[in-house]
Amino acid sequence: LASIEVDVASLEPGMSLTVKWRGKPIFIRNRTPEEVKAAADVPVSDLKDPVARNANLPADAQATGADRSGGEGKENWIVMIGTCTHLGCVPLGQAGEYNGWFCPCHGSVYDTAGRIRKGPAPENLAIPTFSFVSDTKIKIG
Ligand code: FES
Repeated sequence: LASIEVDVASLEPGMSLTVKWRGKPIFIRNRTPEEVKAAADVPVSDLKDPVARNANLPADAQATGADRSGGEGKENWIVMIGTCTHLGCVPLGQAGEYNGWFCPCHGSVYDTAGRIRKGPAPENLAIPTFSFVSDTKIKIG
């Protein structure tokens, strides 16, 4: 089927899980308040890719911490397609200079909002269509 539902009830702040959707890894992370703040504090003008790349928002939405998150009241959550926008390797979580994601293939560094900050990748990690069907269940696709 085109969509999946993922139970995230067991994910405490600071915990992540990876599921498969349409053959791709999907990273789901319950970010800590510090991680949310670190992302929110970065001016969009400092970003290599200023576009949110969030399938749930208009194509020109900016890559603010909020517009990369799970939305209003769900800012702690981030849901992303876990393929590096350089050549498609799977980045490692809680790694790299910004303690976000780090791609071991050619050294792309993503922050706690999955935004590209250093290295050859041209775009932020893509955010798929998703929604919360309950407080603890995310529908992807
Ligand atoms: Fe990730 Fe090249 S595939 S840096």
